[in-house]
Amino acid sequence: MTISKVGVVGCGLMGGGIAQVVAQSGYQTTVVEADQSFLDRGLQNIHRSLDGLVDKGRLASEQRDAAKARLTGTLRVEDLGGVDLVIEAITENPVIKKETFARLDRFCAPHALLASNTSSCTITELAAATKRPAQVLGLHFFNPAPVMKLVEVIRTILTGDAAIKTASAFIQSLGKTPVAAQDTTGFIVNRLLVPYLLEAVRLLESGVASKEDIDQAMKLGCGYPMGPFTLLDLVGLDTTLYVAEVMFQEFREARFAPPPLLRRMVLAGHLGRKSGKGFYDHPAR
Ligand code: CAA
Repeated sequence: MTISKVGVVGCGLMGGGIAQVVAQSGYQTTVVEADQSFLDRGLQNIHRSLDGLVDKGRLASEQRDAAKARLTGTLRVEDLGGVDLVIEAITENPVIKKETFARLDRFCAPHALLASNTSSCTITELAAATKRPAQVLGLHFFNPAPVMKLVEVIRTILTGDAAIKTASAFIQSLGKTPVAAQDTTGFIVNRLLVPYLLEAVRLLESGVASKEDIDQAMKLGCGYPMGPFTLLDLVGLDTTLYVAEVMFQEFREARFAPPPLLRRMVLAGHLGRKSGKGFYDHPAR
């Protein structure tokens, strides 16, 4: 099966980034949002990001205009009847995700693949909410989606080989590299990354070093592009806390237990870049 039309459900940080990459790569892209104001803001962010690439000389203005022309927005899941692949990137709530998959299953063409960008939900549970479990898989992109080269392709015990093959070829066509993983909470990257981020918070809590020095240490000592506290602010402290809690529930291992400081920062509304303050201050741009 070849993919030519793609639906992206959710146009927030991840959904918007994914929709941008998909439209830039030549696919007709329909973005679905729950509310007109979210949709307008999401599409505006994509347009702004594409304009930014032109300003930096990374994209020709004709390519930008063509990408914009391939993007349409809607509030109705029913409008995804003609797409070959849907990538769901809504809020990390398993109940809402399951409902969304059941609706997508009802309205999408029988051949369409249904993928989730989830970092914490069980793909098997989403597959079981549909009548096409062999065509349901995970496509886990990384933040910022237009920049990061990796996509984890997640197979459940129900996913068919054909779906994995088609989805992996699609990811390559976006200029990204797919890696395969089984449907286990955290997949590959978060299984390694989340304990690392949590341990950095514990290091700070226990007074071993300042956040600035911990960040500097991992940048200069290990060649990481950003230190753990800068990365926590990028990913979102609430997102990291949520993923850690789900991983702790799944594995019951202390390394996934969120440290008290992380929980308190989230309770205080210090969520990272998205709220203007996390471990660092992020004045509105
Ligand atoms: N959206 C779009 N483009 C962005 C961006 C954003 N949010 N942030 C940076 N970029 C672009 C910049 O515009 C720049 O593009 P050009 O080269 O065309 O100018 C390029 O990325 C490099 O940016 P900068 O020069 O400003 O800064 P940098 O060299 O430090 O790179 C970075 C920024 C790409 C974010 C880099 O620091 C990095 O790779 N950090 C690690 C990010 C990471 O680990 N992400 C994974 C998070 S975990 C996750 O997503 C999974 C999960 O489930 C929680």
